[in-house]
Amino acid sequence: MSERPSLWRNPISVAGWVLAGCAFACFVFLWLYDAFAPGPSSPYAGIVIFIVTPAFLLFGLSLVPLGWWWSWRRWKRTGAVSALAWPVIDLNRAGTRRMVAVAAGGGVAFLFLSAFGAFQAYEATESEIFCGVVCHQVMGPEYAAYQVSPHARVPCVDCHVGSGAHWYIRSKFSGLRQLYAYVTDSYSRPIPVPIHHLRPATETCQTCHWPEKSYGVVGRRYVYFLADEQNTRWETDVELFVGGGRPGTPTAGGIHWHMQLENVVEYVAQDRSRSVIPWVRATNRATGESILYRSAEAEGEPPEDATWRTMDCMDCHNRPAHVFQSPRDAVNAAMAAGALDPRLPSLKEVAIDLLTEEYSDTPGALAALDDGLRTFYREKFPELAEREGAAIDRAVEELQRIYRENFFPEMKVRWDAYPSHGSHLFAPGCFRCHDGQHVSDDGKRIRNDCNLCHIIRAQGPPDQKEYSTTETGLEYRHPADVGSDWQESPCYECHSGAAP
Ligand code: HEC
Ligand code: HEC
Ligand code: HEC
Ligand code: HEC
Ligand code: HEC
Ligand code: HEC
Repeated sequence: MSERPSLWRNPISVAGWVLAGCAFACFVFLWLYDAFAPGPSSPYAGIVIFIVTPAFLLFGLSLVPLGWWWSWRRWKRTGAVSALAWPVIDLNRAGTRRMVAVAAGGGVAFLFLSAFGAFQAYEATESEIFCGVVCHQVMGPEYAAYQVSPHARVPCVDCHVGSGAHWYIRSKFSGLRQLYAYVTDSYSRPIPVPIHHLRPATETCQTCHWPEKSYGVVGRRYVYFLADEQNTRWETDVELFVGGGRPGTPTAGGIHWHMQLENVVEYVAQDRSRSVIPWVRATNRATGESILYRSAEAEGEPPEDATWRTMDCMDCHNRPAHVFQSPRDAVNAAMAAGALDPRLPSLKEVAIDLLTEEYSDTPGALAALDDGLRTFYREKFPELAEREGAAIDRAVEELQRIYRENFFPEMKVRWDAYPSHGSHLFAPGCFRCHDGQHVSDDGKRIRNDCNLCHIIRAQGPPDQKEYSTTETGLEYRHPADVGSDWQESPCYECHSGAAP
């Protein structure tokens, strides 16, 4: 038997080498581009760079031994060798010159096209559509809410992925871990907060919002409808002392006091959601003075290994881009806008009850809203149901819109899964510290009087509203008669965003 000829030059192995070479080139190109391109890249870019292109590389490489084996079996059986001969390149021949030109052109075009394809795939992972739609099931709720938020034009990655090598590696692993959780269906529903690897506020919020900008006093009118048959309208006009501004200027105090460069507020939270805060430390950078406040439940000193968190924008604005509205807020807003007609009796109460009900999926919920509202009017107000058919139709549509934008039963996402820290109505929020129970050793309290953060300028039903122009404004009048109960417990102990 003659010497075994080389079996590596078979067509399959050669194709494998070419594919692997292209994939490797694409990998290097994307990796360098991703590392040096300005701005943050998507965490899912890692899926293309570290999974898709290496998959092609491995596939190409695995063709090489496969081709050898195929070639070897053929040689054993028939003695024939299917080796591609090395071309004889003699550029003096016109035929060869043409062949070389075609091969070189074809090679470059192939490489270019594969790099282009890989780049397109990479770019796709950067888009909001990818974040929101490809992981539809998981991120669907955030994507839907984001599109109607004040930050609808801020790309997801601007808040969720930082820049620099540290963030780069972190986000790549996080993207791959998320992909794994998605594929194996092992992610939690709802996705737990707070997001521990969220980019710090100095690199996100503060690149657009200059912290020294003064917001001064912001006026706001809250419009409510009571849960009675008349849907009684009630308005509260509030001046919020948002404040901020540079230290030493007249507007320097107020709510943004915590964010002024000379003030540092740190705290230790007892639970993952940061709702229970036993220790708070406020330090004045200019004077070096530092005060430790303890809650009534806090025992002794904070533990040595406690994690101190420095307060930043997101400790109050924890829902800046994807806000899931509560039934109460959504229904009040829709009634104020006329999309839900306040002339329909008891609409406030029914609408809230229907929205608060737990449903197992969206289509079922939409059908139940439709059926529930119509049945209510047919049974309780049969004449009106006939006469106001059009208003009831519109109310059904509006309830369904509210549901589609704010409720995601498949992910167990709705307003109460993600309480906002920026208020004190449905969750402790500001009252995590400003509850009047956080005291320092020398008896100083974190203040909590109703006029610390805002004053009330006007309140009441629109035709009987009382107004005040004094410095302290009006004393709060609770819209519904609950005696003095509203003064004895904080708002969030009765109010959850549903009824009442
Ligand atoms: C303006 C900044 C900002 C933008 C833009 C933004 N997010 Fe967020 N996102 C946050 C903050 C802050 C949190 C953390 C909330 C917390 O820890 O309580 C968060 C939390 C999340 C969570 C955890 C669950 C939840 O709802 O809190 C998901 C999922 C998420 N974001 C997805 C997205 C997607 C998808 C987009 C784009 C469609 C996006 N985010 C855009 C700031 C942003
Ligand atoms: C890319 C720029 C950009 C980034 C980053 C950004 N914002 Fe904004 N933000 C805006 C703009 C623009 C508006 C005004 C939107 C409007 O009025 O429609 C705004 C509005 C707001 C408002 C007023 C919202 C309202 O209901 O009217 C708050 C509060 C706010 N941003 C907080 C934050 C916080 C907190 C972060 C960081 C998590 C952040 N922003 C990140 C650009 C940005
Ligand atoms: C102590 C809680 C708290 C912190 C910390 C905080 N904010 Fe605010 N901020 C508020 C409240 C409350 C309002 C008024 C109500 C609202 O718009 O949500 C507000 C209002 C705003 C507004 C809208 C002002 C307007 O004219 O309507 C912007 C923008 C804003 N904050 C940005 C920021 C940024 C950026 C940071 C971080 C540097 C920050 N906030 C830190 C509580 C806070
Ligand atoms: C982590 C604890 C903590 C949270 C949460 C918190 N604060 Fe404060 N706040 C403090 C401390 C500490 C002080 C300083 C003590 C004081 O002034 O009573 C303070 C002071 C203030 C002041 C007085 C500033 C001045 O001009 O002297 C206002 C107004 C204020 N906070 C509003 C708010 C609002 C509104 C929220 C919720 C959106 C909030 N705070 C959430 C800890 C907190
Ligand atoms: C530590 C600051 C702080 C204190 C103290 C405080 N509030 Fe508020 N309050 C806020 C903030 C912040 C909001 C939410 C503003 C927003 O985002 O709309 C708010 C909102 C409100 C609203 C309108 C909310 C709505 O959605 O209908 C009322 C009414 C109100 N507060 C009453 C009171 C009363 C009564 C007290 C005294 C028992 C009080 N507040 C004490 C910070 C405070
Ligand atoms: C003892 C329980 C209780 C406490 C505490 C309480 N409320 Fe209420 N509240 C009610 C009841 C009951 C209603 C009537 C339900 C309705 O008409 O929707 C109501 C209605 C309201 C409404 C009108 C309906 C709507 O759409 O929200 C507002 C506004 C309100 N409360 C604000 C507050 C604020 C602000 C605080 C804290 C300062 C507070 N409440 C504390 C029980 C309470």
